[in-house]
Amino acid sequence: METTSTSLKAHVEVMGRIVELPLVVGTEQEVAIDGQQLRSETGAILLDPGFGNTGACMSKITFIDGERGILRYRGYPIEELATGAGFLEVASLLIHGELPNEAEFAAFEDEVRHHTMLHENYRRFFDALPMDAHPMPTCAAAIGALSTFYQGDLARDDVRTHVIRLIAKMPTIVAYSYKHSIGQPPVYPRNDLGYAANFLHMMFSTPCEPYRVDSVKARALERLLILHADHEQNCSTSTVRLVGSSNANLYASIAAGISALWGPLHGGANQEVIEMLTRIEAEGGDADAYVARARQRGDSTRLMGFGHRVYKNFDPRAVLLKHSCSELRDTMDVRSSRLLDIAFRLEEIALEDDYFIRRRLYPNVDFYSGILYLMLGIPVNLFTAMFALGRMPGWIAHWLEMKQDPSTRIGRPRQIYVGPTKRPYLPRPERS
Ligand code: CMC
Repeated sequence: METTSTSLKAHVEVMGRIVELPLVVGTEQEVAIDGQQLRSETGAILLDPGFGNTGACMSKITFIDGERGILRYRGYPIEELATGAGFLEVASLLIHGELPNEAEFAAFEDEVRHHTMLHENYRRFFDALPMDAHPMPTCAAAIGALSTFYQGDLARDDVRTHVIRLIAKMPTIVAYSYKHSIGQPPVYPRNDLGYAANFLHMMFSTPCEPYRVDSVKARALERLLILHADHEQNCSTSTVRLVGSSNANLYASIAAGISALWGPLHGGANQEVIEMLTRIEAEGGDADAYVARARQRGDSTRLMGFGHRVYKNFDPRAVLLKHSCSELRDTMDVRSSRLLDIAFRLEEIALEDDYFIRRRLYPNVDFYSGILYLMLGIPVNLFTAMFALGRMPGWIAHWLEMKQDPSTRIGRPRQIYVGPTKRPYLPRPERS
C-alpha cells in the first residue's frame, strides 16, 4: 500500500538511546510513527492494551474523524450515502473502491440476486441446533460451514464468487435462523425483490398467506444496513483481518468476525439497549434513576448505546438513526414508541450530566438502531445478526485489502511477560 512520504521523523529515546523513526501521513493528514524498526533498534516494544494508539494497517476504505463526527466510505460522507444510495451500491463501493455506474451496478446486483439460495443439504444444518439457539453463534457456525460446500472453489482461489455468495446468502442465513427459532419452515428467497425487501419477505412471509413488503420499511432497513456497512478497524473487522492474515479462507475469517461482533461491548450492544429500555419501562420509566446508576462508581451498570472509542463529540450514525426514528414515529407500534420516548429522555439527561460530559460519552449507532429494528418487527435477539448482515461488505472489503497489500504479515502481537521468573519443577508429593 502506498504511503505519503514525509521527511519528518520522530525521535524516541529508550533507556538513553535515541532512535529516529519515520513518520507516515495519511491522505487526511493523520500522522503515525512507523514503529516497525522500534524493537530491532531499541529492544523495546510498544505496550498498548486495546490498541488505542496502534495502527495495524494502512487502509483506503473508511475514514473516521471521531473529534468532528465524520464518517466516510471511500471518501463519500455517510450522510450522503445513507440518504442517496442503496445498500448493494454501498457494498459495491466498499468492495470495489468506486461507486458502480449503471452497467456495473446491474451486473453486481444480478450476481447477488442469483446466489441467494442455500444448498438443500445445508438447510438441514439449522435443524441440528436447538430452537432457542442465539442467531449469532448460529450465523458464525453457518458461515464457517458454508465453506464446506465450496472447497473446490476455495482451492482455485475464485475469490469474487465467494464475495458474491457471502453478500447474497447472509440474508437467507439470518432469516433461516429466525424461522428455525420460531418453528416455521424456511422461506426461499425471491429474486424479483430488492435486497432489503427480499430479507423482509424471508423473515415474515409464511407458506399460508401472502406477505406484502412495505416499501417504507424496506427503505428504513436499507439505511440501517448502510450505516452498519463499515467502521474501519473495529474489533470484528480487526478480527477478520487477523484471522485472514494466517491465510485462513474468507468464510473462516468472516465467521470469526461474527463471533467478535456478538460481544455486548461491540455489536451486541443494540440488543442490550432494548433490554435496558425495557427494564427502565418495567420499573416505571425513571430514566433519571438509571442514568444515576450508570454514573455510580462501583456499580457496573453502563448506559448501553453510549460512548465510543473513536467518536468523542457525536456519532454521525446515531444522528441519522435518531432522525429516522422521528421520521418513522407515526408508523411505530406502541411499544417501540414508548421505548423511543425513554431513549429520548435518557439522551437528554445524559447529555447534560457532568459524568457523561467529562468523559465525552454520546449516543452511538446502537442507541437508536434497536428501536428501528423493533419497529421493523425484528426480534430483539436477532438485532446483532442484523448488524452482521450490514457489516458483511465492510469485512469483505478489509479482508480483500489485507490480502492485496504486499506489506501484510501474519498478525502476531507481542507481550510483556509479568508472570513468575524461572523456578524448578517439583514432583507433586514434594509440593506443600
Ligand atoms: N456508561 C457509563 N459509563 C461509561 C460508558 C457508558 N456507556 N462508556 C464509558 N463509560 C465510562 C467508563 O466507565 C470510563 O470511566 P472512568 O474513566 O471513570 O473509568 C470512561 O467512561 C471511559 O470508558 P472506557 O470503557 O475506558 O472506554 P472505551 O473506549 O474502552 O470503551 C465502549 C468504549 C463503547 C466499549 C464503552 O463506551 C461502552 O462500554 N459503551 C457501552 C456499550 C456500547 O454501547 N457499545 C457499542 C459501541 S458502538 C458499536 C460498535 O462499534 O460496536
